[in-house]
Amino acid sequence: MTRVLFVCLGNICRSPTAEGVFRQLHDREAPSLEVEADSAGTADYHVGDPPDPRSQRAALRRGIDLSGLRARQVKSTDFARFDLILAMDRANLRDLQALRPSGSAALLRPFLEFAPQLGRLDVPDPYYGGEAGFEQVLDLTTAASRGLLDWLQQRA
Ligand code: 4NP
Repeated sequence: MTRVLFVCLGNICRSPTAEGVFRQLHDREAPSLEVEADSAGTADYHVGDPPDPRSQRAALRRGIDLSGLRARQVKSTDFARFDLILAMDRANLRDLQALRPSGSAALLRPFLEFAPQLGRLDVPDPYYGGEAGFEQVLDLTTAASRGLLDWLQQRA
């Protein structure tokens, strides 16, 4: 079993979208591959909240239901529980590096490294912008989810 944690700042826009996108791809294309996905935020602003309604609407248009997810903050035990911790942007990555307990074996990487063809490492924060930002989050997390699933299948 491989455990994957997607991390952004608030855990209401980017990382729950990544979790939902990855789960849909995994269910459709590799349901027998043993992988578990979760998401969390580096901040505690939205703990307990469902994903942002704009993220939920954009995901639903692609057949992905995020309504059951609830935001939580990253905790130090995540670094032992998860094999892969994937940051939505490099600010999230730096915050995670600061939280990481010494001796943690988890692989901590920018999520978009799994889609090198994009030529970028950050999923832009859509929170203060318009609809297009939420579509872009779906596009980028879809590309990286495909790369991640391929990588996990090669490792299995
Ligand atoms: P996320 O987006 O990190 O993709 O969940 C944000 C959500 C909330 C805030 C910032 C980013 N906020 O400042 O409340």
